[in-house]
Amino acid sequence: MKHLIDRLYETSTLTAAEYRELIDNRTPELAEYLFEKARDVRIRHYGHDVYLRGLIEFTNHCKNDCYYCGIRRSNCQAERYRLTKEQILECCAVGYELGFRTFVLQGGEDGYYTDEKMVDIIRAIKAKYPDCAITLSIGEKSYDSYKAFFDAGADRYLLRHETANVEHYGKLHPKNLSLENRKQCLYNLKEIGYQVGCGFMVGSPYQTTDCLVDDLLFIQELKPHMVGIGPFIPHHATPFAGFSGGTLELTLFLLGIIRLMLPTVLLPATTALGTIHPRGRELGILAGANVVMPNLSPRSVRPKYMLYDNKICTGDEAAECRQCMQRRIESIGYRVVVSRGDHKSFQKKDSEGEEVSDPIKKGA
Ligand code: SAM
Ligand code: FES
Repeated sequence: MKHLIDRLYETSTLTAAEYRELIDNRTPELAEYLFEKARDVRIRHYGHDVYLRGLIEFTNHCKNDCYYCGIRRSNCQAERYRLTKEQILECCAVGYELGFRTFVLQGGEDGYYTDEKMVDIIRAIKAKYPDCAITLSIGEKSYDSYKAFFDAGADRYLLRHETANVEHYGKLHPKNLSLENRKQCLYNLKEIGYQVGCGFMVGSPYQTTDCLVDDLLFIQELKPHMVGIGPFIPHHATPFAGFSGGTLELTLFLLGIIRLMLPTVLLPATTALGTIHPRGRELGILAGANVVMPNLSPRSVRPKYMLYDNKICTGDEAAECRQCMQRRIESIGYRVVVSRGDHKSFQKKDSEGEEVSDPIKKGA
């Protein structure tokens, strides 16, 4: 199997049959070999830098009913909330002080936030923090809506494709949602000029190796700037309550593969990975990830943005999460940087050709 990893390392691509073979025949030893190669590639492009994204979960209202998701419309146990523009700006103020230069506005698909309201929020953040990037993660919208947000100053968009296998997509979502539309949204976002992130859950119900191969082939085709993957974790009040979750081992293996497929990709070690293992995010970095997304949401709403059971960091203040993350990253020999952390193809260079970034002062 090592020859497949060597080829992926050298050419960044394999055939469907080869991806399947690699996934199905993985062993701990092979995984270690993959991670070494993945680290080599990530260090070549990004050194030991880890980028921070401040996650602001600004609404848990959602019109969708995805079977896996704890804030789906039908979960009447979920206590719903929305943040005001002022509350969102306050999260940014706290985050800026802590060294965040990217704010990720994430939420359910909530019609309360009309395009006008979103444009107003994006403009207000950009006016106060022109040196920061704004990432949106608010689901499927029309081309015109995406364009309006981009023109208002949004830089990046995260929209996991969830699964690139049509049948599997139908098992995870109600009939009104389609893979076709999800993919179209991603192509629209790319065309408009966003740095785009797709992604999927590892170990979601009914997922097979073939589904994962389809995910990898779709990633190869889309060539996104970011890929968000994390384990599926069941939520007790969803139709998938009785399923088991994704494993650390398979998630790490896929992170390693994705780093080799897209050498310059921005790859988060997700909160879900940190939820299934106490050192999940550190292991994610060591498998090839280069982004972490500590929570900047007000503490009062954190327990309400419960996508899955036992989500970590729901009781901590932003500053605590930030410090904790820095300790974790430094413990494995990497460093958190104060920088927008753009994809290589979007980075501003200084006169020496280096990306403009500073390591965060110890204890800042
Ligand atoms: N509404 C937006 C969207 O659909 O893209 C963003 C919010 S949605 C909650 C963000 C991501 O959470 C989803 O793309 C999904 O992959 C992930 N997610 C939802 N439920 C999950 C679960 N039970 N376990 C792990 N991840 C989950
Ligand atoms: Fe809409 Fe999960 S069902 S965010």
